[in-house]
Amino acid sequence: MQIGLLGYGTVGKAFYALCEEQPTLKVNTLLTRRPRGLVCREVSSFEEILNDATIELVVELIGGIHPAYEYISSALRAKKHVVTANKAVVCAYYRELVNLAAENGVCLRCTAAAGGGIPWLSSIGRVARMDKITAVEGILNGTTNYILSEMTARNAAYGELLKEAQQLGYAEADPTDDVEGYDARRKLVLSANLAFSALLREQDIPCIGISRMTVADIAWARERGLVWKLIARAEKKGDAVSAFVCPTLFPAATPEAQTNGSANLVSLYAGRIGKQSFSGAGAGGWPTASNVLADCLQIAGGAASFYSDREVAPLPICNDGEPKTWLFRSYGRYAVRQETVADALEAFAAVSEIDPGALLAHLPYGML
Ligand SMILES: NC(=O)c1ccc[n+]([C@@H]2O[C@H](COP(=O)([O-])OP(=O)(O)OC[C@H]3O[C@@H](n4cnc5c(N)ncnc54)[C@H](OP(=O)(O)O)[C@@H]3O)[C@@H](O)[C@H]2O)c1
Repeated sequence: MQIGLLGYGTVGKAFYALCEEQPTLKVNTLLTRRPRGLVCREVSSFEEILNDATIELVVELIGGIHPAYEYISSALRAKKHVVTANKAVVCAYYRELVNLAAENGVCLRCTAAAGGGIPWLSSIGRVARMDKITAVEGILNGTTNYILSEMTARNAAYGELLKEAQQLGYAEADPTDDVEGYDARRKLVLSANLAFSALLREQDIPCIGISRMTVADIAWARERGLVWKLIARAEKKGDAVSAFVCPTLFPAATPEAQTNGSANLVSLYAGRIGKQSFSGAGAGGWPTASNVLADCLQIAGGAASFYSDREVAPLPICNDGEPKTWLFRSYGRYAVRQETVADALEAFAAVSEIDPGALLAHLPYGML
């Protein structure tokens, strides 16, 4: 199968090298902004790939929303299969791109977009065909997991570790998407959409990142044998979905608590299969390119649709659903004098519609 490759960065370069070992796949043309001296044809205009009838598969690895969206949608309209690692564009145009692939009888796959090198989305697609997935959850962002793991291990402050993560290349110069949880939220949208045949909107999902976590929060957890992890979670009950991204406490012996550094750990829960977990490298050129390659091999092997043919439908997010569908223990840190903690609890209870007695009953996970 002849491939038109868009982008020759961290993932594109690794993918190109992996393809050289594959007898059934050939990168015929590379779209690049500067010459790379490769044996394949190098072009600077996407039209040359679009109009080449010998290219059946476009692999988009340039990142960002534009022009990635225009390239992907026109490739699908031209009845070319598309593989991408770009969570931002698939998340923003999920329904349109899935429908375009179906209307044109071609395959769209994006396994590397959530979980990097872990076959996470493809596993969700496989399980969703034979069982009912009730929840997806996990550690989906390596940068924040690195920072939290090091805060826990070394008692170091968030700001210091963010700088270190940037020096090591784990965090971007502008770390907002990672540290505020937006990257994990996009991956959650892709995971939940596929798991529930749904159409969640990024902006509807509450998202609390790690940028306000302090050494005191970490110490408080440690004293109780607990460890903080940034968790993205979606659960379906009836016609509603609870979904959020939020720092969450785990007992120290659990697999989540023991997932350290930039690793990811994701789990799905299904009615008959039960819980399945996957762990591994959530980013990096080789792991990510391996998932891109796996998608291409699926297509070369005859896969001809999105992961699922099921119709996707919008589902409301209702984290505070009635009647008490979802119950969470919460941790709060209050900047108040000792004698006003009870008032703070009352105020919190008023805005969150929680009985203050119930809050006190949740100790020791509360702050008193
Ligand atoms: N890196 C990871 O670990 C990882 C993990 C999971 C998913 N992903 C996803 O994989 C995709 C690629 O990531 P990456 O890390 O490989 O990015 P990268 O290293 O920044 O590479 C992007 C490449 O695309 C090229 N490019 C950008 N815009 C272009 C355009 N309009 N026309 C032609 N070429 C263009 C860039 O060219 P120049 O060299 O000229 O700038 C660069 O070579 C992204 O969607 C990312 O979210 C990455």
